[in-house]
Amino acid sequence: MTIIVTGGAGFIGGNFIHYMLKKHPDYRIVCLDCLTYAGNMDTLAPVMDNPNFRFCKVDITDRAEVYKVFMEEKPDMVVNFAAESHVDRSIEEPAVFLQTNILGTSVMMDACRRYGIKRYHQVSTDEVYGDLPLDRPDLFFTEETPIHTSSPYSASKASADLLVLAYHRTFGLPVSISRCSNNYGPYHFPEKLIPLMIANALNDKPLPVYGKGENVRDWLYVEDHCKAIDLIIHNGREGEVYNVGGHNEMKNIDIVKLIIKELGKSEDLIQFVADRRGHDLRYAIDPTKIHNELGWEPETKFADGIKKTIKWYLDNREWWEKIISGEYKDYYKRMYNAR
Ligand code: NAD
Ligand code: TYD
Repeated sequence: MTIIVTGGAGFIGGNFIHYMLKKHPDYRIVCLDCLTYAGNMDTLAPVMDNPNFRFCKVDITDRAEVYKVFMEEKPDMVVNFAAESHVDRSIEEPAVFLQTNILGTSVMMDACRRYGIKRYHQVSTDEVYGDLPLDRPDLFFTEETPIHTSSPYSASKASADLLVLAYHRTFGLPVSISRCSNNYGPYHFPEKLIPLMIANALNDKPLPVYGKGENVRDWLYVEDHCKAIDLIIHNGREGEVYNVGGHNEMKNIDIVKLIIKELGKSEDLIQFVADRRGHDLRYAIDPTKIHNELGWEPETKFADGIKKTIKWYLDNREWWEKIISGEYKDYYKRMYNAR
């Protein structure tokens, strides 16, 4: 079995590669990643010597390069993680989101059509459903919830999902889609809430909370997401969408306070800053379908997962300190200084 994994030098793709090489030691994994600011070869360092692993520095929008890898590797499956993934950056500069997230997806699927494939899996997000009101805790996203996006990021991911379903209907491409809630865990780029707060707290820097910190996200430990994708590509039905989430809703401010407590820091570090434009209020997944059809359920409880994650950032300072000392500095200034 040969699987092409795009975006494997990023957070979830990297965790997926580590997970798959352990779980299926006889599989060949070929990673395609063009190493944007979010791609990091340090994340893949532990597997670079594995004879069943190959890294190709390829942009998924580069048709010729993508086709070349397909000709060489004759993959059985593709799991497409490659994307621009940060909502705040999509508000700053939407164009690259359309390029990678939509056009890149179409190039990957064209390659699958041309060279043949057993499964093309699209890693999508619960953000395609828009948001839920804060005062209706009885409401959840199901696979039937209408697409209703808020940010250029989520609109680009929703467009890709529509294209994936269109390739299934029109060309009979064997596709599946997973729509997961917010992930956290090792190798998470420190522009996102949890790693940013851990890194800033460790450096005694202000912790920028958007608005009042009342927005709710549904957090899932990254390995549980990897397990869900592994199940879907092997046993999930073609042409289907599967929501992935562990019923773990938390307000941003409560997460920030928990990180402060775990690190023994002071809540005085919290700094309320201007809200994100179009900020989604609440995400909450109903994972009944994947549970009933594939027996998936989350294994890591948030209380344990957040401790493991914090420990990973303490034990792997070099990984994230290298990031925050580079071009990230300019990003941070742009995003937070005048906020
Ligand atoms: P990330 O930003 O950490 O990593 C993205 C990776 O894709 C990077 O390695 C980057 O170099 C690569 N990439 C970007 N553009 C590329 C291109 N044109 N060609 C080749 N490689 C390219 O993202 P992540 O958080 O790991 O998210 C992975 C996927 O999961 C995305 O599709 C995202 O929409 C989805 N998702 C993320 C979350 C989350 O909480 N982070 C939740 C649900 C779904
Ligand atoms: P983020 O990690 O960017 O994920 P997403 O927007 O895709 O859910 O943000 C998670 C939540 O945390 C979101 O409500 C925005 C908020 N947030 C802050 O309050 N401060 C920050 O510095 C960041 C990056 C996010």
